Amino acid sequence: MKEFTAFLLSEQENISKALQAVTEKMPCSVQEIARYAFLSGGKRLRPVLTLLWYNLLKTQNKITHPSLSIYDASIVLEMFHVASLLHDDVLDNAELRRGKTSSHIKFGVRPCLLAGDALLAMGNKQMAEFQNVRLMQIISDALLRTANGEIEEIQLAGKIPADEKEYLDVIEGKTAWIIRSACEVGAIMAGASEENIARARDFGLNLGMAFQIVDDALDFSPEDVIGKPTGGDLRERKCTPPIYMYLQSLTASEKEDFIKKFQANSNAVFETAQNLENGFTDEELKIINQKIIDAKFPEKTRELAQSYLDKARESIAVFSNPYANMLLEAITFIKERNK
Ligand code: FPP
Ligand code: MG
Repeated sequence: MKEFTAFLLSEQENISKALQAVTEKMPCSVQEIARYAFLSGGKRLRPVLTLLWYNLLKTQNKITHPSLSIYDASIVLEMFHVASLLHDDVLDNAELRRGKTSSHIKFGVRPCLLAGDALLAMGNKQMAEFQNVRLMQIISDALLRTANGEIEEIQLAGKIPADEKEYLDVIEGKTAWIIRSACEVGAIMAGASEENIARARDFGLNLGMAFQIVDDALDFSPEDVIGKPTGGDLRERKCTPPIYMYLQSLTASEKEDFIKKFQANSNAVFETAQNLENGFTDEELKIINQKIIDAKFPEKTRELAQSYLDKARESIAVFSNPYANMLLEAITFIKERNK
């Protein structure tokens, strides 16, 4: 993973500069929140993927702009991602993000919702500068899909998914689509062929699916590693794979008791997170989390990501150059990530 991590590190400064420039163009009152959210320690995976696909496929027909660069395009999906986290932490009533106080706790709910809105608007405005309808269609679709995924997830809270597809649809929307779009934007900015644009899209979607599956496994890692309380998904009544595996391991009467507590208040769809209390005591949550860890359900969940990582690898099999190698290493990076 040496070359991918070196690229990731070497591009941080250019990406940060582009983020800084765009933040300065935002309404003054929300700049501090945007800065706080941007500086909270993300890896900038989405802009880096845009840059890798751009560099891999760059042609004579690449999209240019008199004063903006590929970095300015690469940060648009990061802006959307950060906006979605500002909103998500309000929806989940989360107090910590990446080991720091969540923005809505630090600055208040209303300013954070507005800062998220301003980031979405600013991202759209910046991409519109490239005067390319296709880029606009891609990012609007990414926004709609992300919102849809989150809506579906909230509607499913406290429910046991009818099948695997229900879970997969949620994570495709809430996480994979923005990653898919980041790769596609890189390919389009590069002036790539339709065949290669499709490869970028497929790579991103599959990598994004694997990213969220690994994330759902990581939810059971220690708080000091993941920067948020262990077992948040169970508390938020999200039936992710480790929780589903635990449910399947129970006897009929244990299952009945679990489902009763997991479903508590589940008719209160779209109520605020504070009102969406699960029926478990803190002690019960702790015990269940430990049982999930002991049964190695997080490790088994990581195995579910493998088929998506294999599909992502297939999308880059035709290329052979340093950028293709870095994309290959990005697959390993997602598979092995532990925070
Ligand atoms: C984090 O998931 C949340 C997301 C990946 C998506 C959030 C989307 C919205 C709030 C919809 C609005 C859409 C836009 C584009 C503004 P998580 O809660 O499982 O992860 P976490 O534990 O890191 O919070
Ligand atoms: Mg959340």
